This record gives sequence, structure tokens and C-alpha cells, in this order.
Amino acid sequence: MSGTYKKIVAHKYSKNFREASEIVSTDIVQPGPDQLLIKTRFGGVNASDVNISGGVYFSDGNFPFDLGCESVGEVIAVGPDVTQFQVGDAVASPQMGSAYSEMLCRDVDQFIKIPHCSPEYLSVSVAGLTASIGLYEAGDMGSGETVLITAAAGGVGNWCVQLAKLAGNHVIGTCSTQVKAQELKSLGCDRVVVYSEEALTDVLTAEYPDGINLIFEQVGGETFDTCVDHLATRGRMLICGFISEYMGGTQEITAPRIYHKLLWKSAQIRAFLYKDWPDKIAEHLERLIEQVASGTIKPLLDPTVFEGVDSAADALEYLHSGRNTGKVVVRY
Ligand SMILES: NC(=O)c1ccc[n+]([C@@H]2O[C@H](COP(=O)([O-])OP(=O)(O)OC[C@H]3O[C@@H](n4cnc5c(N)ncnc54)[C@H](OP(=O)(O)O)[C@@H]3O)[C@@H](O)[C@H]2O)c1
Repeated sequence: MSGTYKKIVAHKYSKNFREASEIVSTDIVQPGPDQLLIKTRFGGVNASDVNISGGVYFSDGNFPFDLGCESVGEVIAVGPDVTQFQVGDAVASPQMGSAYSEMLCRDVDQFIKIPHCSPEYLSVSVAGLTASIGLYEAGDMGSGETVLITAAAGGVGNWCVQLAKLAGNHVIGTCSTQVKAQELKSLGCDRVVVYSEEALTDVLTAEYPDGINLIFEQVGGETFDTCVDHLATRGRMLICGFISEYMGGTQEITAPRIYHKLLWKSAQIRAFLYKDWPDKIAEHLERLIEQVASGTIKPLLDPTVFEGVDSAADALEYLHSGRNTGKVVVRY
């Protein structure tokens, strides 16, 4: 096989993805002995793509580097020593640099076999893993508790809602519109707070006077402050992200130190990145893939069509505008 394919690389650090990146053409290479050549079908758009292009994390200062961090595709060639994959297999690649490239040629251990090539399985690798490792490993999620998910209708959030319900919890989700609220109700969310219509703090004060046992927080800023105030005695709050500060810059605040709010109710705040649980990834992925295959989990996918590497920056800006419902996907 010969020819070229297109991919997006970063040529400098900037949280403005368009400024940091360029689309380049590169030669198709034959897979080495332990490698696979993949035709990408779906690339996952992630809020933190701007943190990666901005050099906030996963950065070693070497340019150019490939952008995006998850995709699914089809095996189109295998290296001579590869035994566990064959041409035509569907694979997921939850790896740095995989989302915005029409093809990937990488070592076999960077791919996971999936039942078929669909965006539902794309959603498993970063969004599903983040929700599952966050709730179960970092959050010690059990059952019979009250669990609050912020940005609940997003790529990670909809997984959190479904996993927390499956575990037998009472689930509260926040979102900005009634359209998103309908989706959350259909996923089983017990109380949806449309924060553009009612203040989260008012709802929690009136309806949850004993506080919230487990909070999965993704927004930051005032949402974070409200969540801290409503933690129950022995409540746990997970910092999954703080999207409200990714593009607007870091907010400086003057306030009493956080221990004033935590000690008197034995509450805990725990930050986590799913990649810091490498020993748990295979086990969670296997379970999540099974849950999607059996229909137990139905990953929410945003219906807006983005096609090809040329659409990636638009897709990312769309996510950061807050308009998406579910996972934003680039199709190839
Ligand atoms: N810790 C980890 O390992 C890990 C891994 C992956 C992702 N994350 C984090 O998980 C969070 C969600 O990521 P995602 O890729 O799944 O994105 P997403 O949730 O699909 O999209 C972002 C959503 O955030 C909400 N939002 C609230 N305030 C916002 C603001 N000021 N600007 C833009 N959006 C705002 C919007 O929903 P509403 O309009 O309904 O509020 C928007 O749809 C991010 O914080 C990300 O960094 C963490």
C-alpha cells in the first residue's frame, strides 16, 4: 500500500487549537513486525484537547506531535509477527495522537479489539474509562447513595449518570438546556437541574438538606464552590476537570482555605486522571465494552456531523461552546 494520508500535528503550544495545529500530509508506511496499520473511522473530541495543544499536560516540548487522544478504526494491514489481529478487525486506540489522523501505524499493544467499528465503542475509551475509574476507583462508589454529576449530558457525564444508576444510586445531573435534560431523564437521571433555569445551590438546599455523598465535578469555578458547600458528612468529591477555566484562563479568588469547609463534615476532595490507574484500565475497558455490546449502557453521541481532519477544530470549538449533547465525534 502506498500514498499519503492527512493528520493534525501541533507545531507550538497554544490553547487555541487552530493556532497550535496544522494539517499535514504524510506517507503511508507498511507496519513493522509487531505493528498494525489502521484506517481511522471515528475520532473522539475531548475537552482537554486544548490542554494538550496548550502544553498543560502530556507535553515534552518536542514538536511536531500528533493531536487528539482516541479513535476507532479498521485494521488494513498487519505486521508479519502479529497473531492476535487480522485485516478487517475493528480496534479502538485510546492513545495520544490518535483522533485526528486518517491512518495510524503503531505497535499492536496500542490497540484494543472491539466488536465492531462504531462511535459507541469510541466513547468507551476515554469517556467511559474516565467515568468508570473515577467513580469506582477514585470515588469508591457504592450503592444507595446520592450522587451528583456536573456537565452530566456531556461525553464523560452521560457515562457517569448511567454507571451511577446501574450501581443503584440516586442520581442528580446538571446541564444547561431542556433538550439535554430530556436526554438525561431518558438515561435514568432522577433529578435534572437545568442551571440556566434554577440555581443548583437552591435545589440542593431545598431538596437535599443532608448533602450529597459523591460528587463527580467537571466544570470548576462557581459550580465547584457550590458542590463543596453541599457535600454530606463523609462525602467525597471528585475533581475530574474544570472546563470553565480551560479557555478563559485561571480565575484568582480570595477565600478562606478549603479546610474550613471540609473538616467539620469529614468531607474529602479527590482529584484524578484516569491514566494514573494504568493497572485498572484493562479490567474497566473489558467491562465497559461488554456493557455497550449488551445494550446495558447506551453511550450518548452528539448528532452533529463533523467530517474529516479539516473539521476537527470546528468540532472542538463546538464542544467548548457547551452546545454538545453526548460525545462529539469526527467521522472519516
Ligand atoms: N480526569 C480525567 O482523566 C479526564 C478525562 C477526560 C475528560 N476529563 C474532563 O471531563 C470533562 C468533560 O470532558 P468531555 O470531553 O466529556 O466534554 P463534554 O462534557 O462533552 O463537553 C463539555 C460540557 O461542559 C459543560 N460546560 C459547563 N460549563 C462550561 C463552560 N464554561 N464552557 C464549556 N462547557 C461547559 C457543557 O454542558 P452544559 O452546557 O450542559 O453545562 C458542555 O457541553 C472536562 O472537564 C475534561 O477535562 C477528565
